[in-house]
Amino acid sequence: MQYKTPSGTRDILAPEVCLWQQMEAKACELAQRAGYTEIRTPVFENTELFVRGIGEASEVVQKQMYTFETPGGESLTLRPEITAPVMRAYLEHSMYKTGAFRKLYYLGPSFRYERAQKGRWRQFSHFGVEAVGSADALLDVETIALGWDILTECGVPGLKLMLNSIGCPGCRPAYHDALRQYVTKQKDKLCEDCARRAEENILRILDCKKEQCRAAMKDVPRIPDFLCADCAEHFGAVRKGVEQYIPDWELETHLVRGLDYYTRTVYEYVAGELGSQNAVGGGGRYDQLVEELGGPETPSVGFALGLDRIVLSVQSAGGDSPVVRAPVVFFVSVGDELRPEVQKMVVELRRSSIAADMDYEGRSVKAQFRAANRLGARFVAVLGPEEAASGMVNLKDLSTGSQQQVPTSELADRIANG
Ligand code: HAM
Repeated sequence: MQYKTPSGTRDILAPEVCLWQQMEAKACELAQRAGYTEIRTPVFENTELFVRGIGEASEVVQKQMYTFETPGGESLTLRPEITAPVMRAYLEHSMYKTGAFRKLYYLGPSFRYERAQKGRWRQFSHFGVEAVGSADALLDVETIALGWDILTECGVPGLKLMLNSIGCPGCRPAYHDALRQYVTKQKDKLCEDCARRAEENILRILDCKKEQCRAAMKDVPRIPDFLCADCAEHFGAVRKGVEQYIPDWELETHLVRGLDYYTRTVYEYVAGELGSQNAVGGGGRYDQLVEELGGPETPSVGFALGLDRIVLSVQSAGGDSPVVRAPVVFFVSVGDELRPEVQKMVVELRRSSIAADMDYEGRSVKAQFRAANRLGARFVAVLGPEEAASGMVNLKDLSTGSQQQVPTSELADRIANG
């Protein structure tokens, strides 16, 4: 039997993993700079949280959840997204009692049972932010600009923002009526799933990617034309900010997003060079979610980025290849009996914050030099019987070719100042 990663999952190896580390560090740095603090929640939660939070009729809940029963009889689900868990934590820790407003960010794996293809995985990584406890339109703008800046800093090519407002429960019924009237006339042209959606969750039809449904929905009434005065004013303020900070954006009146908790602002970031799975992130306002989960009124907004797709788009744009960190100094020991002595120096240098390494594969002296070169070390430190007897090391600077005898007690200083 050959063991392989399950379909839709993969191992991330060097040097690609270095690109991941860079992207993750950038995202965290920018979020922290904007006043967000990290939150870590479990990778599985009670199934009910997602059914309630994301919505029973959503594609994610109906088809994509990894749900399992524990030996104790509980139903748990691997998180398909992290907004509902963060809101669960917000409530569980009564954050609303100690100053309702919070800015939180997170990074970690999510799981969806989707048809695996390029850019669509069954385990993938989310980086997201949630600004909890304010309906201020400027906060929508802040999150939109933050997501944009992270993606730009990561070097995502051909970036574009798609923006829409889907209104509030107050103005949605009028739109639903108009949509229903339109859909009734187009029903025969829709796919099987959309025929079902027409009964269960009509807004989702706007989200269908199938060509036949897109064609049938081409002249559908536009959601922004049905917004109530408050939602229209809110959306106007969001657009004003977006115009100011986002160089490439579009009003996408079909955009509704795949999760049911959204109200008012919704948005997606799309990248060039990714084909059909081109959404590198998405988000929006979810003013009712906390109440839906049993908490007080807590209007909130946020987004999540898909790190797998960010990395894919940066790779396809052919940017600099990430480099595995090289040792600053590689040790060559002449004779096996000196290896413990070499190891002592390696450990001490590492404790002085210098990346140092040595051979563990029984290589000849010549091969140890070759390894130092291959790894990209700046210095080679040679310890032979003569050096050991006099408390010295022969330090060769591979960038200049110069070499000198250095007392072992001064090695760290020489390398640090080298
Ligand atoms: P989402 O649009 O479902 O939103 O996911 C965000 C991003 O995760 C997508 O734009 C995409 O880049 C990536 N993604 C989703 N599914 C996959 C997959 N199967 N394989 C690879 N990447 C994927 C949310 O999850 C919301 N919680 C975002 C949010 C936060 N809304 C408000 N706050």
